[in-house]
Amino acid sequence: MSSNATDFASPLAHAGLAGGSLPPQVDYVLDVISNATISTWLFTLLAIAVAYDQVSYWLQKGSIVGPRFKEPFVGPFLQSLNPKMEEYIAKWKSGPLSCVSVFHKFVVIASTRDMARKIFNSPSYVKPCVVDIATRILGEDSWVFLDGKAHVDYRKGLNGLFTRRSLEAYLPGQEALYDRYFKRYVQITKDAGGKPVPFMHEFRELMCAVSLRTFVGHYIPDSAMKKISDDYYLVTAALELVNFPIIIPYTKTWYGKKAADMVMDEFAKCAAKAKVRMAAGGEVTCIMDAWIRDILDSKKWREATEKGLSTEGLTKPALLLREFTDMEISRTLFTFLFASQDATSSACTNLFQVVAQRKDVLDRVIEENYRVRNGDIHAALTLDQLESMTYTRAVVRELLRWRPPVIMVPYKAKRPFPITENYTVPKGAMIIPTTYMALRDPEVYENPDEFDPDRYYSGDAEVKGAKNYLVFGTGPHYCIGQQYAQLNLALCLGKASLLLDWKHHPTPVSEEMKVFATIFPKKRSGDKNGDEAHRRPMPGGSAPGPRESDDGPPCAARALHHSQQQQDGRRRPSSETTAVAATPPAAGNRGDGDGGGREGRAMVVVGIGVRSGFFGRRGQQDLEFRRARPSRLSSPHYSIAHSPFYASTFPSSLFPQVLAHIRSPTQHNNNDPSSPGGGVTIIDVREPSEVRETGRIPGAVNVPVASAPDSFHVPEDEFEDRFGFPRPPRDAELLFYCKAGVRSRAAAGVARDAGWARVGEYPGSWSEWFARGGKVER
Ligand code: HEM
Repeated sequence: MSSNATDFASPLAHAGLAGGSLPPQVDYVLDVISNATISTWLFTLLAIAVAYDQVSYWLQKGSIVGPRFKEPFVGPFLQSLNPKMEEYIAKWKSGPLSCVSVFHKFVVIASTRDMARKIFNSPSYVKPCVVDIATRILGEDSWVFLDGKAHVDYRKGLNGLFTRRSLEAYLPGQEALYDRYFKRYVQITKDAGGKPVPFMHEFRELMCAVSLRTFVGHYIPDSAMKKISDDYYLVTAALELVNFPIIIPYTKTWYGKKAADMVMDEFAKCAAKAKVRMAAGGEVTCIMDAWIRDILDSKKWREATEKGLSTEGLTKPALLLREFTDMEISRTLFTFLFASQDATSSACTNLFQVVAQRKDVLDRVIEENYRVRNGDIHAALTLDQLESMTYTRAVVRELLRWRPPVIMVPYKAKRPFPITENYTVPKGAMIIPTTYMALRDPEVYENPDEFDPDRYYSGDAEVKGAKNYLVFGTGPHYCIGQQYAQLNLALCLGKASLLLDWKHHPTPVSEEMKVFATIFPKKRSGDKNGDEAHRRPMPGGSAPGPRESDDGPPCAARALHHSQQQQDGRRRPSSETTAVAATPPAAGNRGDGDGGGREGRAMVVVGIGVRSGFFGRRGQQDLEFRRARPSRLSSPHYSIAHSPFYASTFPSSLFPQVLAHIRSPTQHNNNDPSSPGGGVTIIDVREPSEVRETGRIPGAVNVPVASAPDSFHVPEDEFEDRFGFPRPPRDAELLFYCKAGVRSRAAAGVARDAGWARVGEYPGSWSEWFARGGKVER
């Protein structure tokens, strides 16, 4: 018996007994271990794991702000299911760097402008990151996951899709789509018996439709467009922070992947059609056309030069592109949809709400749009005209500052990142710069919590805030669609201002923001969503498609960089600012004397009936759309002050001085005073496509201020990478010009702000140069 007992004792116990020389405490421990039950073992293992989790949190946290103790394993997971704007703001205010740890993910949050910029501009330490499932949806080899040179090179090949020439070509398709949708908006209000209905869903669908029209043009049938608008939300739903590593059938990730595959299949079909049409000499009408045109031009050019044939009559591509398969084109365009949809939906929703509440702003938008269209509210716009609408564009710019759709942009530390002298972000940690704090910085923006488009119209916000305007990120991954996005929002607002009246009735919470991937106005807690599925035909007549169910998420995600914030894709952001019916205004009498409701004021504001509920539900009676009365447009009610001319260190017409500097047409960097350029670096700040179209002042280099507003603020090595020439030293003399002297003013301000003192502008700019017969370099 006793020998049997020894045989079955644990080896450790046995060793202890056999040795006979262990101290009694060790003997006691061995005894406890040998007699431990399974539950004791499990409990002990759990305690060790908790201790490990806690200690590793402390080690990673180091000196930065963050909770002293981490809830074992999960961290603040439950709070993150329902993120609140106030909590984010409190976190950002807690310190320039703070942290949380959710499950196994250690997250560093950077709140100040300079910390945020440092992250965006440190590609050797960080790379953009998305939730794990995103790689399965987009494909591991998607261009957005490329890093370093591979990313830069791929991106260069896409730049041609966002040039002025290309953006101009997309305009007619966009205008036609807005016409269709705006007619439908009026019909929706009619169908609702003149009562307001929730409209946020409509805006989301509108943005989805306009994106599809811009990306793949008319190659996509209406039925597919409808299906994509309806099903895209499944992609968003799949992008949760915590997913199973494999895709299990009938789970959210499975549905999301299916929806993404469906969109990509449709896009691939479009690519096949576009290739045929473009090869037959078709005009560019969408991004897909522009890309295929560039591919075909590259092919022709390459073949001609390889065979030693004349290239006369061929267009020399800015960059020689390889051939791309239909699926490659499709997958890249899908990343555009993936990146843009939530952000533009948020911006559009907020834009309608904010402008409806401000009669003064809306009237100035109307005046400008009416004037630029020479009194014809249906007139189609050229890109020049759209760009000339400085007030409407200022409204969009300010909206994006005030309600930035992307408040956080997650990156991941590729290696230990010494972000400050005292703190190194551990390798593998997520590191999230926020854009919000920089955009509300009182040092840069006077009364930053106020919505004031004038700061971008007649004020100096563009110049003073050149480093702060992180709405579209900065550094190598800055938003490739930023110009397009802003112009498109201006087009949408301008057209709506002329064609529609809309009205919004603020509720006590409609000025509060709900964080759901992006930010949206909140709904009242008492509001019900209604249980009737919201099905409307596509404007233009295609069949009604299914709508997401009540507990479904919004259709689209600006998910490339911040989908981690969205924890529960199937919950709706409950943003349901209400609006009630009102009578459309007579000319010059918008707002019925109420003067336009500012936030928090429950008053009638006249305009299109806009209800910013996330999902249109007929029962909610929030918005009202009416066709705008032409009478209100008959006389402009405002005289609009134009921005004062920015003080220049140069005389008002520089033509002779500039001429004197230009001796060598090929001189590209005139920093050397003994060089033919006379020591002045002449900088053309127009977009590269404009420079290509017209040519430039000989010797000028190109730093496009609109697409690279942080130009002179970027570090020296990155400057050369981005603009293709060494950054001029701080004592260099810089001379800026653009098309007509407006952008050059902003660019000169940016350079001064960044520390260059010898800065001048050429007020007459290219228009004067060309008109006076100045030499042109191509
Ligand atoms: C108001 C609308 C938009 C906002 C606020 C916005 C914002 C952003 C931000 C913050 C980033 C990350 C930048 C960084 O990491 O430095 C980004 C990246 C990106 N955006 Fe946008 N975006 C908008 C619209 C669009 C549109 C319309 C498109 C497509 C046409 C687009 C395509 C992209 C792409 C492809 C990237 C990734 C670029 C890269 O990794 O190189 N975005 N966007």
